[in-house]
Amino acid sequence: MAPLSLPKFDFNFNKLKLPFIQRQHLTVGLDIGSHAVKVCELAENGRGLKLLSLGSARLPAEAVEDGELKDPAAVAGVIKNLLANLQIKGKKVGISISGYSVILKKINLAVMNEKALEDHIQSEAEQYIPFDLSDVYLDYQDLKTNKEDEDRTDVMLVAAKKDVVNAYLQMLRSVGLKTVLVDVDAFALENSFETNCGQEGNVVLVDIGSSKMNINIVSKGASLFARDVALGSRQLTEQIQGRFDLDFEEAESLKIGVSAPEEKQAELEEIFVSTTTQWIMEIKKAIDFYSTNFPDTPLAKIVISGGGSKIKGLDQYFREETGLPVEIFNPFATTRIDPNRIDPDYLKSIAPEMAISVGLASRPCPF
Ligand SMILES: Nc1ncnc2c1ncn2[C@@H]1O[C@H](COP(=O)(O)OP(=O)(O)OP(=O)(O)O)[C@@H](O)[C@H]1O
Ligand SMILES: [Mg+2]
Repeated sequence: MAPLSLPKFDFNFNKLKLPFIQRQHLTVGLDIGSHAVKVCELAENGRGLKLLSLGSARLPAEAVEDGELKDPAAVAGVIKNLLANLQIKGKKVGISISGYSVILKKINLAVMNEKALEDHIQSEAEQYIPFDLSDVYLDYQDLKTNKEDEDRTDVMLVAAKKDVVNAYLQMLRSVGLKTVLVDVDAFALENSFETNCGQEGNVVLVDIGSSKMNINIVSKGASLFARDVALGSRQLTEQIQGRFDLDFEEAESLKIGVSAPEEKQAELEEIFVSTTTQWIMEIKKAIDFYSTNFPDTPLAKIVISGGGSKIKGLDQYFREETGLPVEIFNPFATTRIDPNRIDPDYLKSIAPEMAISVGLASRPCPF
């Protein structure tokens, strides 16, 4: 079998290592979602992270679907304008992928040294990955879950379809950007959380985007459970659209509370309850899986992010349903911010959906 086919990229599991003195070059984090592109630029100079710029721009409908670029020219145009408006000069970007084209698989193997593990993965990956190996970029990390007296460990395998990844690289090249890092949404989210909160407790991270919800249970820097579910805030818009016979934009405004006339309140409430009930069912399934497999270490909390996490009262609803503390994630909690440069109200309003872009932007630029 061919050696790792993506040597220059990094499904970057490596944790951020901060240097003590010199300024470190970080990648520009570009989170290309199905609803919007989010960009974040951070700097690191030995005193921690500083926010240089951030922003978000809507994408045309269906330009990105299920993690795949459907209209590269349209997405390229949006990214080009966004970076120009924010005056971001950095050309080295980090992106993350999700959806059907990425497979995350945890496998349990005998403990072996790095070389033996690499050889084993190269020769055995076929049995774990439901794609032809020549069609995927493959990466892995030994999670080192073995205790002293055990001779087996968990290894996280990541396979991403080359054609889907290559389409992103090509689209970004077309606007003069160089992709130096390709991550997976779940791990970028985890990095964002750990950059801000360290590796405290066992935590359920839930990013609720427009068309997918990413659930990632993390413990001490390792992901114990990661799953994308095809549910998200767009479901609400579509139902509002259907119920009140509105166009997409009108329904979107109604959803986010820009306009919500009194007579529609009861029906809106019904839509919100039925949809968020589906979300909580998925979260409970993940929690049940965790409790069955790790009965000795209880979960500390749920941390929610993504545009969908901004639904009023969602945190409280999740708290009531799970009995766990629930926080809305602030990915800038430990970042230095210059209020003359970045409007605090804007930052506050946009922070939850910036989670993944911050996870990408806090990665050191690998080359
Ligand atoms: N206050 C709000 N209440 C409910 N939904 C909201 C609110 N604000 C934004 N949203 C929704 O959040 C979604 C955008 O969030 P986000 O940017 O995290 O999604 P995305 O990353 O583009 O999508 P995905 O990750 O699913 O591909 C949209 O559906 C938007 O309507
Ligand atoms: Mg997203």
